[in-house]
Formats: sequence, structure tokens, C-alpha cells
Amino acid sequence: MHLLRSPDELHAWRRGLRGPLALVPTMGALHAGHLAHPAAARAAGAGAVLVSVFVNPTQFDDPADLAAYPRAIEADAAACAASGVDAVFAPATGALYPPGVPAAAVDVPALTAAPELEDAHRPGHFAGVARVVTKLLGLCRPELATFGRKDLQQLRLVQAIATDLCLGVEIVEVPTLREPDGLALSSRNQRLDPRSRQAAAAISASLAAAHAAHAGGAGSGGEAAEALRAGLAAEPSLGVDYAEVRDAGTLRPPEPGGGRPLAALVAARVGGVRLIDNLLLGEA
Ligand code: PAJ
Repeated sequence: MHLLRSPDELHAWRRGLRGPLALVPTMGALHAGHLAHPAAARAAGAGAVLVSVFVNPTQFDDPADLAAYPRAIEADAAACAASGVDAVFAPATGALYPPGVPAAAVDVPALTAAPELEDAHRPGHFAGVARVVTKLLGLCRPELATFGRKDLQQLRLVQAIATDLCLGVEIVEVPTLREPDGLALSSRNQRLDPRSRQAAAAISASLAAAHAAHAGGAGSGGEAAEALRAGLAAEPSLGVDYAEVRDAGTLRPPEPGGGRPLAALVAARVGGVRLIDNLLLGEA
């Protein structure tokens, strides 16, 4: 496995490839959820898999969160090698953000400003995500790129950018990997103390309750939203940023008549750690 530390090293490696390249963009501190992406990429037709590891400063609104973000490039490279990844691209910050270059902006306002979701709590976050993903796609020129459903609003944003800006990359959706009690795997989970770790399980349990309520209910998601909020309220140590049922494609509030696939989305803080999760309703 190759560890590529600069765009020059990346381009030299890229030139020698034959067959479709898949990019798996990550911020490192890799867990089994990330490590499911290479297999998903191969199943979608990738001949080579490149994992990027880059803690992107422009998507953090809180400098303390950026500073506390776990970094473990040696362990990440070893995990990638063990997962059959062909190369890891881990550039320095200055390689992606060269000083003196005027900043470009990439935005999909209909998605970033979907009312009451991430943007209301992390203003500017998706501007940073959109910018770095566009940079990574431009640098790596992959035929495929994988993104997790765990970050549903990010996934929809990237799908819109790839399609609307004709980037010629196929976005592969990867289902969310979970702990046995349902907690979605996240690099942030390692910062949960034992009590908070226990409380965090209420997030996925509430999503499962919403899923169950929807299965027997009407199409506009009212029962699902009620079950979701009741489940979260039962765990008082959760500080809920939002708990919403949305159109799974547009992330707008569901149309009153129903009929379109829905998703339940949650962001909550526990023990000083902010966690997000979601579930597509009506899926098995
Ligand atoms: P990061 O949080 O490291 O996640 C990298 C990729 O792994 C994302 O596509 C995310 O949705 C996916 N992922 C995270 N947890 C997962 C889980 N439990 N199961 C399956 N996939 C999971 O998302 C980012 O980094 C950044 O915003 C990035 C896109 C790299 C831009 O900086």
C-alpha cells in the first residue's frame, strides 16, 4: 500500500493506474464504518481504492473541536493496508489550501439551508465540506467516490454537486455501520465517557422507534416524528439540537400527501460530544 503525502506523489501514483479509481474521503481516525467503504467501492466496480485522510479545517466552526479531532495516521495507514486499500492520500493542510489563493465557494443552498438541520447549528460547515470535497475530487479525479449515509445531509450535498456541476464521478452510498446496541460508529465515540456512551444509545433506539412507528402509520411521518422525540426526551442527558422527519431526497419537510421516502434525522450532544445519526424510514 502506498502512503502519498503530496499532490505530486498522488499524481505520479494516479498516472500508473489502469481501471476505475474510487476515492474514499475521510478525516482519519478510521473505524469499521470507514473501512466498509473500500469493499463498497470494489462492489461498485472500482479497480483501485484511494482513501484520503485530511482533517479539513474549513468545515469546523469551533477551533476547540478541530483541535480535539483525533489524529492517527500510522494506525489509519495500517488499517487501510489490512482492508485492501491501494493508497492513502494524506496531504498537509497547505497542499489543499495554498496561501494567497482566493477562496472559491461551492454551495447547494436548497440542501445546506434545509431548515432546522445541520446548518442551523453549524453555520458554514457545509461550505467547508463542499469546498474540500470538490478539491479532493479535482485532485484525485476518481471515477467513483463513496460517502456514508451516516452523514445524510452531506451525502445529498455531494450528490447534488457531482450531478449539477457535471463532475463525472459516480457517488456510491454506503449504509451506516453500528455498534451492537445500535450506536452509529463515529470517530467522536472514543471521546464518550462510559455514562455518556450508555446515554448515546438512546439516539439510535429513538430512530428505531420512529422506523417502527412509521411502518404502521400514515405517509407524512407525523407518528414517526412523535416516536423519535419521545424516545430522545426519555434520556435527559441528551441535549437535542434537532430531531426531524424529512423527505429522504430533498431533506425538506415532508409533503402533506406523503408518498415519498422519508428519513428521520437527529443531532444531539452528550458529555460534551456532538453526535449525528439518521435512519431511512420504510427500509428494512
Ligand atoms: P468522516 O467523518 O471521517 O467520514 C468519512 C466517510 O465515512 C463519510 O462519507 C462518512 O459518511 C462515512 N462514515 C462515517 N461513519 C460511518 C459509519 N458508521 N458507517 C458508514 N460510513 C460512515 O465525513 C467526513 O469525514 C468529512 O466531512 C469529509 C467528507 C471527509 C470531508 O472532509
